[in-house]
Amino acid sequence: MSGDISPKPRKRCAIHPSIVRLTHWINAAAMIVMVMSGWQIYNAHPIFDFRFPAWMTLGGWLAGAIAWHFAAMWVLAVNLLVYLAYGLFSGHFRRDLLPITPAGVWRDVKAALAFRLPHALGHYNAVQRLLYAGVIALILLAVASGLAIWKPVQFQTLVWLMGGFDFARVVHFFAMAGIVGFFVVHILLVLIVPKTLAPMILGGTVPDAEATP
Ligand code: HEM
Repeated sequence: MSGDISPKPRKRCAIHPSIVRLTHWINAAAMIVMVMSGWQIYNAHPIFDFRFPAWMTLGGWLAGAIAWHFAAMWVLAVNLLVYLAYGLFSGHFRRDLLPITPAGVWRDVKAALAFRLPHALGHYNAVQRLLYAGVIALILLAVASGLAIWKPVQFQTLVWLMGGFDFARVVHFFAMAGIVGFFVVHILLVLIVPKTLAPMILGGTVPDAEATP
């Protein structure tokens, strides 16, 4: 209408697009199954001088654990491909996870230690960016070393890149340890900033400018 001078409503954008939310929770469930069944498989033939307590494992025995591990593996792999394709082609990774600079991470670590790190919904700080990019890299390493252990003849090049079959098992173990370490820190951060949880489950929007400051 001519003469209308009321300000236009600001465009809003999703805090977490539904595809990110869906793939995030499928990944979290599949990863928990992979890790717990992986511990049972490890117990059948440990690399180091310890075994995981039975209550932390899934599958009951070696064959049961392998069945769980392989079932969850397909869910994880397909889901990961969907998430990576979306992240790369929609610009989500470029926009929300990059750039990651040492100066930015150092600034936000200092602010976090002084309890002065603000958390705007729809915007990841440098520490989060580093953690999320890091865990994506660790999941890819776990998949690559897992493939090398699963089909060492077909994936000979991967086995070679991992320094041989036995070392591929060690790489797989430490990729798991890194993912579990991320999981613990990630849950602690969600507990410290609980307002982030509901939008990751239910969705929600923020004014555009807030999403990309
Ligand atoms: C191994 C399991 C998990 C992995 C690998 C993981 C990984 C991630 C990644 C990569 C993101 C960023 C997603 C993106 O924007 O593309 C994210 C966000 C998030 N995750 Fe997880 N996650 C896991 C489990 C969980 C669990 C169990 C919870 C809840 C207790 C959780 C709560 C959240 C929340 C609330 C966010 C959004 C944070 C924010 O808006 O600041 N995650 N997670």
